[in-house]
Amino acid sequence: MFRAASWAFRGLRRSSVPLSARMSSNRADRSCALAEKVAVITGSTKGIGFAIARRLAEDGAHVVISSRKQQNVDRAVAELQGEGLSVTGTVCHVGKAEDRERLVATALEHCGGVDFLVCVAGVNPLVGSTLGASEQVWDKILDVNVKSPALLLSQLLPHMENRGTGAVVLVSSMVAYVPIPKLGVYNTSKTALLGLCKSLAVELAPKGIRVNCLVPGIIKTEFSQVVRISFCSPTPAPRFGEPEECAGIVCFLCSPDASYITGKNIVVAGYSPKL
Ligand SMILES: NC(=O)c1ccc[n+]([C@@H]2O[C@H](COP(=O)([O-])OP(=O)(O)OC[C@H]3O[C@@H](n4cnc5c(N)ncnc54)[C@H](OP(=O)(O)O)[C@@H]3O)[C@@H](O)[C@H]2O)c1
Repeated sequence: MFRAASWAFRGLRRSSVPLSARMSSNRADRSCALAEKVAVITGSTKGIGFAIARRLAEDGAHVVISSRKQQNVDRAVAELQGEGLSVTGTVCHVGKAEDRERLVATALEHCGGVDFLVCVAGVNPLVGSTLGASEQVWDKILDVNVKSPALLLSQLLPHMENRGTGAVVLVSSMVAYVPIPKLGVYNTSKTALLGLCKSLAVELAPKGIRVNCLVPGIIKTEFSQVVRISFCSPTPAPRFGEPEECAGIVCFLCSPDASYITGKNIVVAGYSPKL
């Protein structure tokens, strides 16, 4: 159960914004599909992750926001709390073990458990040939995009499985199916996530935890700016997507309505005949 008293501010590098003490909110009253559930979301202070955080909270979940920069966490938490939503936040660079530990500790301290993990954080530091990529670039992309969801989930698993049911959503990309030239290492990392989704779904099914993968097309965020300008036209899509268009499907995948869906890759990419 949630411990209202623990919504008080404690800890060192957590958001300086006062934590929400609401057990429900006006906005959350819109739907109670996820009431009393706790969602941990990586890379959730901007873009797709932020839209998912808002939507999960609107549907009644208590949401733990996170990303690398304290000021981004503070801003995102303040914005959603200002909308009457039940959120808290902490700094978490998903590639750092100590940050992942703090994210787990924050969720447990404030919410007493975790029902949903949504792994949004992803990086692409390289535009260039796959074979020209340095070992350092390979390590960075694989650490953040592929290894961190598995490592974070392994830390959260004991706290998720004792809730009886749970859901994990990984965030891949359409580049897993239709590679974009010069993004080879990133393309590869996002393809690996499709395999990770299947393997985890098989392993965790007996524990009542479902694992699915969101596969966005090109979505209008800071992250996709270079791709939108340099490599892709929206035709015949016939437009780029909005972050909010990825959020509803994640809420559905976490909800009881998706209780018989696991190990699936769900594409959100408009009309994309190659997918
Ligand atoms: N936009 C697209 O077209 C598109 C398409 C397919 C898939 N995706 C995937 O969707 C995910 C989110 O992309 P987006 O477009 O929403 O990007 P975005 O708008 O740039 O937001 C990225 C978010 O992740 C955080 N972040 C970045 N690196 C992180 C790290 N190492 N650890 C923790 N948090 C980190 C950022 O905050 P801080 O700077 O504070 O860390 C920010 O909150 C990525 O995995 C991306 O590969 C995007």
